[in-house]
Amino acid sequence: MHTIDLRSDTVTLPTKEMREAISNAELGDDVFQEDPTINNLEKLAAKKFNKEAAIFLPSGTMANLVAVLTHCNRGDEVILGDQSHTFLYEAGGISSFGGVHSRQLKNHNDGTISLNDIKNAIRKKDVHFPPSRLICLENTHNRCFGMPLEINYTNAVVDIAKNNNMSVHVDGARIFNAAVATGSTVADLTKNVDTVSFCLSKGLSAPSGSLLCGDKNFIHRARFNRKALGGGMRQAGILAAAGIVAIDIMSEKIIEDHLNAKALAGGIAKIDGIIIETEKINTNIIYFKLDHPKVNSELLLETMGKKNIRFFELGPNWFRLVTHSGISKENIDYVIGEFDSFFSQA
Ligand SMILES: Cc1ncc(COP(=O)(O)O)c(C=O)c1O
Repeated sequence: MHTIDLRSDTVTLPTKEMREAISNAELGDDVFQEDPTINNLEKLAAKKFNKEAAIFLPSGTMANLVAVLTHCNRGDEVILGDQSHTFLYEAGGISSFGGVHSRQLKNHNDGTISLNDIKNAIRKKDVHFPPSRLICLENTHNRCFGMPLEINYTNAVVDIAKNNNMSVHVDGARIFNAAVATGSTVADLTKNVDTVSFCLSKGLSAPSGSLLCGDKNFIHRARFNRKALGGGMRQAGILAAAGIVAIDIMSEKIIEDHLNAKALAGGIAKIDGIIIETEKINTNIIYFKLDHPKVNSELLLETMGKKNIRFFELGPNWFRLVTHSGISKENIDYVIGEFDSFFSQA
C-alpha cells in the first residue's frame, strides 16, 4: 500500500499532463529572457493576477526574498506576522541577504494581524528608527489553520500602507486555495497590493517554481535580485511547462482537497482525545491537538506510520494534516478508520 502523505502539499507529484507538457516544452535561455515557455508562464501569471508583469523563480522562499529585497533597502523595516512563513521558515534570508529588519506582530488564529497593531508599529521618521517600508501578509496562512484572508482585510492593510508611504507584499503560496475558499478570484484577492508571490509546487502540484507578480518596473528590478541570488535558471521552461498546466488545470481541482480536508477533520473530530476546531477548516490544512491520557505524540506518529499514514507534529501535541492531489476520498476514509480504531483501543 502506498504512503498516505499528509505532511504537506509540497509532496505532490507532477500529473500526466505536466509530464507531457514538460517533454514537449519549447526551451531557450531564460536569463536572456529567451525561453518561450517561461515567457508564456510569466504572461499567464500576470494576466491571472491582473498585474503588469511576473517573474518565475525556483521556489516560494526565493520569491518572497526577492520581493523583500526589491521593496526594501538595507536597514529598512518590514512588518510581518509572528507566525508567517517568511519570519519562521525562510532561514532569516531577508536579514542575512537583505539587511532588512523584521518587526513581528502577533498573528491571530485567522491569519490576520490587528490593524491597530500595524498602525502602532509604523515608525516615525526619527534617526533612532529603521524606516518602515513594507507590510507582508500571508494568504492562505499556513500556521494559522490555512485560513484565507478576506479582501476587505487586505484592502484595509493596503490603506494603512498607502497612508504611510509603505508597500504591501502578499505571500500567496496558496492563494489559489484562498480564492476557492472565499469564492473570489486571485486577481480580486490581490487587486490593491503591490506584489504577490504564489507557488506552483504545492496544491497546484507542479514539481518546482513560484511566480512574483507586480508592476513592470518592480519586476524589472526583481530580475536583478533573482540573478544576484543565483536564481537565473536558463532552460527552466521544462519547469514552466508544468507550471502552465498547474494554473490552467490544477487550480480548478483544489476544491476537492478542501472537501477532503473537511471530511477528514469532521471524521477525526468525533474521536475522544482529538481536539479540532472544525469551523476553522476552510482550505486544505487541518490542525488538531492531542489530549488523551494514554496516547502521546510519539505513539500516535509511530502507530500511524506503521499504517502508512504520515503527518507532522508542529508543536507539542499539535499536529498538521494537509490534503492535496495525491490524497483521494478513499485515503481519507482509511485515515479516519485507522485513527478511530487506534483511539478506541487505547
Ligand atoms: C506560506 C508559505 N510561503 C512560502 C513557502 C516557501 O515555499 P518553498 O518551499 O517553495 O520555498 C511555503 C512553503 O511551504 C509556505 O507554506
